[in-house]
Amino acid sequence: METISFYDAKPYDKLFFDKRKDEFGFEINYYEDKLNRRSALMAENSDAVVAFVNDTLDADTINKLYELGIRVIGMRCSGYNNVDLKAAWERIHVLRVPAYSPYAIAEHAIGMAIMLNRKLHRAYNRTREYNFSLVGLTGFDFHGKTIGVIGTGKIGQAFIDLCLGFGMRVLAYDPYPVERSGVEYVELDRLCRESSVISLHCPLTKETKHIINRDSIAKMREGVILINTSRGALIDSEALLEGIKSHRIGAAGLDVYEEETELFYEDFSDTIIQDDVLARLISMPNVIVTSHQAFLTEEALDNIAQVTLSNLRGYFDGKPLPNEVCYRCGREPGCRKDELKRCF
Ligand code: NAI
Repeated sequence: METISFYDAKPYDKLFFDKRKDEFGFEINYYEDKLNRRSALMAENSDAVVAFVNDTLDADTINKLYELGIRVIGMRCSGYNNVDLKAAWERIHVLRVPAYSPYAIAEHAIGMAIMLNRKLHRAYNRTREYNFSLVGLTGFDFHGKTIGVIGTGKIGQAFIDLCLGFGMRVLAYDPYPVERSGVEYVELDRLCRESSVISLHCPLTKETKHIINRDSIAKMREGVILINTSRGALIDSEALLEGIKSHRIGAAGLDVYEEETELFYEDFSDTIIQDDVLARLISMPNVIVTSHQAFLTEEALDNIAQVTLSNLRGYFDGKPLPNEVCYRCGREPGCRKDELKRCF
């Protein structure tokens, strides 16, 4: 039976991985520490490492793990921008979970939009203090309004289904449009000009970094509700703050934040937060911030556990690794997945 060193472990991770570990034949050592070059030492005598979005898998960490004999890393997430794939190339296989529940993220995004529009966060606080006034809580009907969806992949499409259910008109922007009814693909400028709600569902790339910036915000309708459940750096946070102060942006729902790595998933309630932009955003009555929680449903956690462990079992049993990623995937001279069913 192989042993896994599992980093940045939270109680909900343990619950779902413990349910699945026997099925795939693994022993798991859970560590609360995030993975970095120092904590990598804890993986001594393990056969594999499992890591998450805010672990540091830079060249130093990868080298240390390699020295300790680790040949496979299971990322229990879809993103791998925190892994130095070049350092891992031909030494450590990196596996991931490409999709675990698009519905979890789409439902969180629509939930944030409704909460902000109908001011449920404010109503909740008021009635707890027996303040039953409705002044300042007026929203608008979603029915018949225009919603702009940026990125129409798995999550974007699940989100569009929800919006169509509300009777909304859907505009979309994606360089790779998909055929589907009820959606009109338009340029980003037009999406910004016409949408009462805008939701981001594209990945973070060189092209999408700060796709929401001073220029795009200036084109938006006054009072637009902006939702980001994708990656923090899609939005220029300072431009967002200015947009809120100038009332151009009517409300913002942020499940992700540009500088979230050092903060999200941890309790800083006894600390003075040094990030003034985040602190100011959180202080706004029309902003809600959740801590990269959109994925957190039972179904998604179970899928994450199942696919992560099945990826690792596939590696140890010499099977094809369809969920492997490497820095040469899709490039020439490319990885050898077509021929070997593994990147190398
Ligand atoms: P996907 O790969 O199925 O879809 C991404 C879509 O974005 C594709 O249709 C692609 O053509 C489009 N796209 C690429 N470049 C674009 C651009 N410049 N402008 C507009 N669209 C562009 O990915 P999926 O599964 O739908 O995930 C989307 C994002 O959601 C992920 O990249 C990740 O950042 C985020 N995510 C957030 C989670 C959370 O807990 N908050 C959990 C999982 C994913």
